[in-house]
Amino acid sequence: MKLKIAVLAGDGIGPEVTAAATRLLQAVAERGGHTFEFAEHAIGGAAIRQHGTPLPAATLDCALDSDAVLLGAVGGNEWNSLAPDKRPEAGLLQLRQALGGFANLRPAIAYPELAANSPLRPEVTREVDILFVRELLGGLYFGTPRAWNKQAGEAHNTMRYSTNEVARIAHVAFQEARRRRRKVTSVDKANVLEVSQLWRATVTEVAAEYPDVKLEHQYIDACAMHLMNTPRNFDVVLAENLFGDILSDECAVITGSLGMLPSATIGGKVNLYEPVHGSAPDIAGTGKANPMGAILTAAMLLRYSAGLEAEARSVEQAVGQVLAAGHRTADLVRDEATESVTTQQMAALVFDAYSALVEREHSLHAV
Ligand code: IPM
Ligand code: MG
Repeated sequence: MKLKIAVLAGDGIGPEVTAAATRLLQAVAERGGHTFEFAEHAIGGAAIRQHGTPLPAATLDCALDSDAVLLGAVGGNEWNSLAPDKRPEAGLLQLRQALGGFANLRPAIAYPELAANSPLRPEVTREVDILFVRELLGGLYFGTPRAWNKQAGEAHNTMRYSTNEVARIAHVAFQEARRRRRKVTSVDKANVLEVSQLWRATVTEVAAEYPDVKLEHQYIDACAMHLMNTPRNFDVVLAENLFGDILSDECAVITGSLGMLPSATIGGKVNLYEPVHGSAPDIAGTGKANPMGAILTAAMLLRYSAGLEAEARSVEQAVGQVLAAGHRTADLVRDEATESVTTQQMAALVFDAYSALVEREHSLHAV
């Protein structure tokens, strides 16, 4: 198989973790006799520096012409004073819109090896396996009108959803639930917001097509609490853009570190793969970044864009094995007795574990 992958490493730790992910993808391709072509382009702050804009035309053209886009992270302190539409983040939001993927899938899995990393008790996080289905192209992020009228001392954004936009993301949530434990928790603020009332009514209507999937509705504030109290009760969580953004970060508490969380955005022209974590400029270049979020993101690319499910599972298994063997990047170290490994060392460990898994499978097949 031949796959063209646009690699947009971005800012801060983006380039380090993306390098780890692409190296692993390359290895998967070589072992499977596939050809993955990588095309690197600038986005975010790096693109502002080089080209004066966070999403240069060459980057967008390449992304649109690819089979998948792998992104690192964007943003940093030096661009904090810029207006929202000039910032590195604007490049990412424009890219998301242009690629058209509206369904952002964010799995939050509690690895047993990291149970002690969560401030929650191990019996609370045990066996937690949640899939966030975050709407990515609507809501406050893109709604108009939007403005900060400095003279008037007033600013506004608009949370807007159409029935169609809600219905299409609801279908994704129910379909994903069918591959899992058949439960969808839809999040809204229908006790206050009309847009949430439309959301709830539409999700309820779509649910009628999936009688085998249980649907429950929760208000965003209550959901934020239940996620910490009883995370095991959740299977698929369906949320609009901003609510999903907030809740998926909250789940880093369950998994032990934001550095472990991957994401895939599907449903558009080209799928977009990005770890949930940000650019973490304070640790960029120090070797402290955790590459596993990016590596697990690469696994999602193998699953959703390359159709290589077995390979995706092997990568995920390799991550689990490396954790079980006690290796920890700085974000995962809890006591002074444990020595941390660097970004590159962790990437190499996952790489070796993956290779060993594949070798073993080959020899099993050979017998
Ligand atoms: C995320 C990030 C982005 C978002 C930012 C960088 C625009 O927080 O992917 O969760 O808010 O969507
Ligand atoms: Mg976020």
